[in-house]
Amino acid sequence: YNRQRLLVVANRLPVSAVRRGEDSWSLEISAGGLVSALLGVKEFEARWIGWAGVNVPDEVGQKALTKALAEKRCIPVFLDEEIVHQYYNGYCNNILWPLFHYLGLPQEDRLATTRSFQSQFAAYKKANQMFADVVSEHYEEGDVVWCHDYHLMFLPKCLKEYNSKMKVGWFLHTPFPSSEIHRTLPSRSELLRSVLAADLVGFHTYDYARHFVSACTRILGLEGTPEGVEDQGRLTRVAAFPIGIDSERFIRALEVPDVIQNMKELKERFAGRKVLLGVDRLDMIKGIPQKILAFEKFLEENASWRDKVVLLQIAVPTRTDVPEYQKLTSQVHEIAGRINGRFGTLTAVPIHHLDRSLDFYALCALYAVTDVALVTSLRDGMNLVSYEFVACQEAKKGVLILSEFAGAAQSLGAGAILVNPWNITEVAASIGQALNMSPDEREKRHRHNFHHVKTHTAQEWAETFVSELNDTVIEAQLRI
Ligand code: UDP
Ligand code: G6P
Repeated sequence: YNRQRLLVVANRLPVSAVRRGEDSWSLEISAGGLVSALLGVKEFEARWIGWAGVNVPDEVGQKALTKALAEKRCIPVFLDEEIVHQYYNGYCNNILWPLFHYLGLPQEDRLATTRSFQSQFAAYKKANQMFADVVSEHYEEGDVVWCHDYHLMFLPKCLKEYNSKMKVGWFLHTPFPSSEIHRTLPSRSELLRSVLAADLVGFHTYDYARHFVSACTRILGLEGTPEGVEDQGRLTRVAAFPIGIDSERFIRALEVPDVIQNMKELKERFAGRKVLLGVDRLDMIKGIPQKILAFEKFLEENASWRDKVVLLQIAVPTRTDVPEYQKLTSQVHEIAGRINGRFGTLTAVPIHHLDRSLDFYALCALYAVTDVALVTSLRDGMNLVSYEFVACQEAKKGVLILSEFAGAAQSLGAGAILVNPWNITEVAASIGQALNMSPDEREKRHRHNFHHVKTHTAQEWAETFVSELNDTVIEAQLRI
């Protein structure tokens, strides 16, 4: 049968390009939850449109990269350095990202940001129009166009202006904050109106969807209904679509000989010690300093555990041109160094902090040998790391300590130990609780989470979203 054509539009392509020569490129898998989840989506005739993460000013390079990407069903949007600076580093990651995660800017940056706001917003709109241009080049009648994330809030409007019959969906991978936060944005109304141009708007949780609807009713004065938002008889459907992972891919990976070998080595290296694990992009929202400080408190209060436990923190470099991220890197190094100095011995340190990414198999091995996973996000749209850990724990049945501010707290809350990451006393106590938990209780908690992770996959998430989008468009036609 004919699979429906799907155009997936996201700022970040699943592969990022590294230049090897004038016309040669190598492609690496991009990091982050958006890419992981979308890679788990299989049953569509999908094409990707997005940015390959590099500046390619010359035509020879652009041609070669376009060709290399085509093999991966990817179509590039070329953004120049100035646009990347103002749109990606500026508006997206210095304004929208912190705001949507309820994080303020540091005082000294606040005024500077206020002043550059207009030009950054202009660049944001321009970049969104560039994505729309590429979509329109590749669009065929009947295609579903699925726009992703906070980078592309302007895109639904651009696409509908190009062709009002296009089926357009938009999904947000971050939280959508309370309308009280959203209304502080100078561009608050314009952003909402452009998103509302979509036929279907989706969020990870019911709370985020509700926040979005209240922003539309309070800021734009539109009518919120159980179905979505209505504007002069036209309905934009708004709903929650909690994302998942391709759990089978993780479960299968644990049977690969290299992974088994890697697990054996890790077990030998950390023999006699319990392994705590953190895997995060090195981002302010992940609460990495809070996590490390909580671990310090645990060591302080539990002298007998000091040489029996180790924290492995994988901190994947991300958005390194944004000053806030640079500051975070040195802050985390400073804290981890101090604690290692304080509790380390000649032969061992309590914290292994790695500023790097891991390949998929190495990551699976690590998840599988972990005793306790620590997810301390201050806010997080969903958090797929918690899902991936659970998927790899069928043998070990380790414990998940999970922030109540991650979307995942709503799905894995019954099996995890939920914590407020700002309360390091509570997090320290939960580390103790996890390490001392009886096998029976671990088993029971793991069962609950594993069942959820296996039955709520990325594939189903995508199918549900796309079929809802198709239905919404048909219903809208019937209403006319
Ligand atoms: N991840 C990665 N490279 C690494 C370590 C992790 O790409 O070196 C992946 C990880 O497997 C997960 C994603 O990055 O799928 C992180 O997703 P999550 O939803 O937890 O957070 P996000 O980074 O999207 O904020
Ligand atoms: C989060 C965002 C994604 C983004 C990812 C990695 O998951 O929701 O849109 O792709 O972080 O960040 P980056 O800026 O490298 O794309």
